[in-house]
Amino acid sequence: MADKIGFTPNRDEASRQAFIGSLKGYINFNIETRLEQVYDEVLVPEFESQQGSAPQSRADAAGLLESHPLYHLWSTLTFHSQNMMWNAVQQTSDRIIEDQVATFEKLSQKPDRLGVLSLKDELVVQAPISTTEIHRQPGGYWKEARPNDIETALNYSGTVDLYRNAKGMGTGGKLGSDSIGQLLASISKKRAPTLDPQDILDMGCGTGEQTLAYKRVFPDAAVTGIDCARPFVRYAHGMAESEGLGLNFAEMDAGNTDYSDDSFDLIVSIIMFHETSPAQVRNILKESWRLLKPGGLVLHLDVPYQPHRMSLFKQVTNHWQVRHNGEPFWTGFAEMDIYKELIDAGFDDQHAFADYETVGPATFFFFGGRKDQ
Ligand SMILES: C[S@@+](CC[C@H](N)C(=O)[O-])C[C@H]1O[C@@H](n2cnc3c(N)ncnc32)[C@H](O)[C@@H]1O
Repeated sequence: MADKIGFTPNRDEASRQAFIGSLKGYINFNIETRLEQVYDEVLVPEFESQQGSAPQSRADAAGLLESHPLYHLWSTLTFHSQNMMWNAVQQTSDRIIEDQVATFEKLSQKPDRLGVLSLKDELVVQAPISTTEIHRQPGGYWKEARPNDIETALNYSGTVDLYRNAKGMGTGGKLGSDSIGQLLASISKKRAPTLDPQDILDMGCGTGEQTLAYKRVFPDAAVTGIDCARPFVRYAHGMAESEGLGLNFAEMDAGNTDYSDDSFDLIVSIIMFHETSPAQVRNILKESWRLLKPGGLVLHLDVPYQPHRMSLFKQVTNHWQVRHNGEPFWTGFAEMDIYKELIDAGFDDQHAFADYETVGPATFFFFGGRKDQ
């Protein structure tokens, strides 16, 4: 039996998965860049000569692109490389899942466990997580095929860095690395230099790799990760135990937690909000404010695809995620005025922020605020 929880491809599987990562990068960058040239140099001038003005809206731009064979090629390759990615990680999961579940059971029953795993039978998982195979992960995040299942978490964990890096949203981190959590921890220090967090909450912690970073950076803090997908929090708990780190994980809705007011002095999340809904964004922001201790910091990170920052061309390729890639709220999130939502949720306008930071190849959208002492 393995002594650790983790996605461990063998050499052949790893090389197939790396190939798919490169293929996705090639499609997202090289082919998409060529398509953008065709749009700018051929399709827009044709439109202008026929209509007398440039395309005005995403719908105008989509109409132009959808008539072109290179768009069909880009779309087909993007769609099928996603299938290839899930098929490739499934091969590893099929080989190791029974052993990984046994490892999880052993770690979660160890008498000298370092952290607590809390499950909540009465939790009602909200749409779209409950209704959608997010980014077309087969079975979605929460499907359970066996007792103590962690299979969806293994598959997620095996793709997340590949997917982020191929989309230019990563820090170049390797499989299973905690590099985005490390980034968030360092940004929290910049935004709140004198804060020495004692209680940290990671909302939508997923499979927990990034949550571990907060314990590594702030070893004296009590660190808790919550997520509404049960296989994910199981996986996170097993992984933390096998890494010898004492963190708590709980199955919980970030918009309706069980914690009392002023419970945490650092509240973070990484790419959770764009997988929720307008109502949940509002609930989670209100909950972030309610749970924040005076003097504390809320620091959420999500995708930087707000339309005012993007050309019409990019808005079309971005909206493709909604139509074809199991990301129903990708554009809806980007179109929300998050600064206004923060203020409406109770954040004070002296300390609320919603801005961008570029780190290496990626730009991230950061939002949150501080509560006065
Ligand atoms: C894209 S994943 C990111 C996971 C993790 N933060 C990471 O960076 O790897 C988004 C996570 O948010 C969780 N999530 C979405 N809505 C949630 C909610 N209302 N409450 C708790 N978790 C939620 C999902 O189950 C999923 O694990």
